[in-house]
Order: sequence, then structure tokens, then C-alpha cells
Amino acid sequence: MAVDMATIEGLCKRRGFIFRSSEIYGGFNGFFDYGPLGAELKNNIKQAWWKDFVHKRDDVVGLDASIIMHPNVWRASGHVDGFSDPMVDCKESKLRFRADQLFFAEVKVDGETIGYVSVLEDENMQRDAEEKAAELKRKLAKQGSLGEIVLKNYMDAKPFEYELIPSPATGKAGSLTPPRDFNLMFQTYVGALRDETAIAYLRPETAQGIFADFKNIVDTSRVKLPFGIAQIGKAFRNEITPRNFIFRSREFEQMEIEYFISPYDDWKALHRQWIDACKAWFVSIGLPAKDLAEDVHPQEKLAHYAKACTDITFHFPHGLQELQGIAVRGNFDLTQHQNASKTNLEYFDEARKEKYLPHVIEPSLGVDRTFLAVMTAAYSEDEVPNDKGQAEKRTFLKFSPRIAPFKAAVFPLVKNKPELFNRAREVYAKLQNRWNVFFDATGAIGRRYRRQDEIGTPFCITIDFETIEGNGSVTLRDRDTTKQVRLSVDEVIKHIEEAGA
Ligand code: GAP
Repeated sequence: MAVDMATIEGLCKRRGFIFRSSEIYGGFNGFFDYGPLGAELKNNIKQAWWKDFVHKRDDVVGLDASIIMHPNVWRASGHVDGFSDPMVDCKESKLRFRADQLFFAEVKVDGETIGYVSVLEDENMQRDAEEKAAELKRKLAKQGSLGEIVLKNYMDAKPFEYELIPSPATGKAGSLTPPRDFNLMFQTYVGALRDETAIAYLRPETAQGIFADFKNIVDTSRVKLPFGIAQIGKAFRNEITPRNFIFRSREFEQMEIEYFISPYDDWKALHRQWIDACKAWFVSIGLPAKDLAEDVHPQEKLAHYAKACTDITFHFPHGLQELQGIAVRGNFDLTQHQNASKTNLEYFDEARKEKYLPHVIEPSLGVDRTFLAVMTAAYSEDEVPNDKGQAEKRTFLKFSPRIAPFKAAVFPLVKNKPELFNRAREVYAKLQNRWNVFFDATGAIGRRYRRQDEIGTPFCITIDFETIEGNGSVTLRDRDTTKQVRLSVDEVIKHIEEAGA
């Protein structure tokens, strides 16, 4: 079902998935903390990725490089000079915006442009802009104007070249500066000095650690082309306008692979294989295939060294947006590092008896963005009977058992019967050896089910009188159907296992 961002954010806060960083100090824009359930879900996503792309493949090895690297890494990679976004300032409010995400309305009368008005005070998405432009049009029409409104991106509209006319919606002209480049890398100082020579950067991507260690890995790991190096780790970008919850933040995690290929390989076929493998992985962690799409970057928008780039997009609450980028980058990065470090990074191709710098295919994915996609896909509502048999609205998270924070919850039907309680603790301990499970002995059983539904626990196991007086069987309740079956504890374990937990 379609869910809005405020609902996801509210649920994340209420159930301890995600908090705003430093909330007791009013929060810190662009930074987030993952609470007890969020930390579990995030770890499960990372573990599933590592298992499928590193452990289960013969051609990928792992790496965990340092976050702060020699500043020359970022000079060679082009980040010091070129890792920037176009930024504009509002002269009145002093607010800053990313120009390429800012939309304006061009006002035309009798086909002639008479100026521009800001339709977005601080929103960035085109969908909101369209709604606001429509509102503006209605207001103009009411005032008897024949004006026409055309929505434009700030970079195309160049409103700073025109006299801005006051917006009929706000009555304000809201003048902005022309865009200027803003470098997104966070700087720090390494060592005791605080001058230019001591400047270092927090990595804005994990990828460069892979290129910098390429030679070390070739020399020590007996890898043969084609092969990949995978890394999961924090990345930092001083985003001008962090927004849409964890979709665009200033501190986030990436799961990246540099897949090195020979310049003689069919890169188009390998690129396609990676796109398909990544899409299949998203489906394996519970994203519906129908919510995923591909966005092929047009040739003219690619960086000069890139051969192709396809984004896998997902229907997030704020629209169809990039989840993962899969780029074909040629041998640009290795060439840059070879030249800057004066270290030979060539690979010796034994079959061809030839040395060359390999090319790369780069599947690059954000952990936090995957988390948001998983949350969006899992959010569900339906109606189920409550303890009194009346229909009641239920919110539940349909997480795949593979990544659910808790795989099961164990309940004694009542708390004050020691035999029942102790038997439930035994079952709990047995499951705990295998999975992260939850124990809850308080409250009406229906309320306990509902609490687990809302945090996405796929199975609830209840120990009742039949368990201790009969054949030892327990009830197993399925989160999505709410149906219950009686099974032995061993059958329950098998069932959870077969569900993919
Ligand atoms: N090494 C290539 C690279 O970093 P990118 O498109 O800039 O490419 C890759 O980033 C992925 O990292 C994105 O598809 C997204 O999932 C994630 N990502 C990038 N910036 C982010 C941000 N500010 N907040 C959260 N995730 C981000």
C-alpha cells in the first residue's frame, strides 16, 4: 500500500527503529540514530548483502578500509576539485538550496515570459512543485490574469537572470543568488597542526578505498579477472539539503562493489548481469519486483570516463527515486591513482601475456536507502478481530523473515502459572540459540500479537495449557494471515527455517 513519509518516520520513532541524532538537543539535520530494532534490521540487511555478494560468490572478496585516507586519494579521484553540487542562497531567509533540485514557475502572458516566481519555499520534489504550480495558476485565474505557468528546474530557468515577480501565493519575490559550486566533502585535520597541510577528508564514498587497495588485494588474494572487491562502511557528504528522512542524509552507509574486468570483456553483458543480480537481491529481501525500475542515464549526461550507468529506482513515499547506481567506469580511477601515486597498478593477464589496468563495473548501494525501501514495502494495514471479536485496524510490517529484527516471539498464555511460564522460557532459550527472538509474558494475548505485528515479527509462538497438559505442541501464528496452527517445537523451528529466517 502507498504510505507517506510521515507515517514511516512516526512508526520508526515510536517503535525504536530510528531517532533523530542528538534529539535532546533539538536534533542535528541530516544525522540519525538507529535504535534497538533499527540496528537489528540494518545489520540483517548488511549481512544478507555480504552473504549473497561475497560469501556465495567465488569471484568477490571483502575489504574494510579506513574512513580517513591520504588526502591525495581525493585529489587523484577528482573529489577535491569536482565533488560538488550547485548551491543557491535565498537572499532574504539565508536558506540554502540545491539548485538542481529546485523548481520554479515561469510566468507567461500572451506567450511571452514576464518573469519567474518561486513556487517552492523549501520543498525539493517535482511532485510538490507541480501541486504548488497548479495552486498558483488557480490564484492567477481568480485574479483575472490570463497568465500561464510553466514549471522549470532552476538550472534551466535561470531565474536570477530575470526580475523576479512576487508570487501570488505568498506575495514575496524571494530572490535567490546564481548557483555556485559547493564541495560536499567534510574536512578535518590530522595531527597536531591546524593548517592547510593537515587537512584530510571523511570519505564521501567507500569506493576509493577499494581502488587504493587494489594492488594489495591482487598481490595477496590470488584473485583472477574478472573479480570484485566489496566493502560496507560509512560515507559522509555535507549535503546542502538533506531531506526525505534517511533517503538523503549527511552520514550514511554504503555497500559497494568494484567489479574489475578485462578491457577485452563484453562490458555490456557483464553490466546487464549485475543489474539483474542486484534486482534479484532486492526481491530476495522483500522488495516487490513491481516497485523496482531501471533508469538508464543518457549518454550525454555521463561523466567523460563513464561508459554507461543504470540506476535501480524504487517507489519511495516521495516518488520513484534512485536506490542503487550501477556504473561502468572504464579504468579512470586506477589510472588516476597510478599516475598520482607513481605506483604501477597494472594487472598481468597470464592468458594474454599482457599487462593492463582493468576496467570496472560499480554496483553502489546505500544501506539507509535500502532500509527505507524495506520499510516502505513492508508497511501494511488491514482489519482483524480484537479480543472481543470486533474488527480493529491493524498496522503491521511485512518484513521478509530473512531480515526481520525478531524472527519470532514466544509467549506463555498466562504469566502466573510457573509450569507454563518455565516451559515458555525453555522454548525461548532453544530458539535464541539460532535467532534473535523476543519473550513477552505481559498483557492480553491479542495485544501481544499486535505489538509484534507492528515491529514485523513474522511468527508468534504461544505456550498454553495444551502444551503442558497434552502432547507438548504449541501454537504458531503467522503475522500476515494471523492464522494459527498447532505444531511441535521441532516443527516450529523447521517452519521458521523454511521461511528463510
Ligand atoms: N561510488 C559511487 C557512488 O558513491 P553515488 O550515486 O553517489 O555513487 C551510491 O552513491 C549510492 O549511495 C546511492 O545510490 C544511494 O543509495 C547512496 N547514497 C548516496 N548519497 C546518499 C546520501 N546523502 N544519503 C543516503 N544515501 C546516499
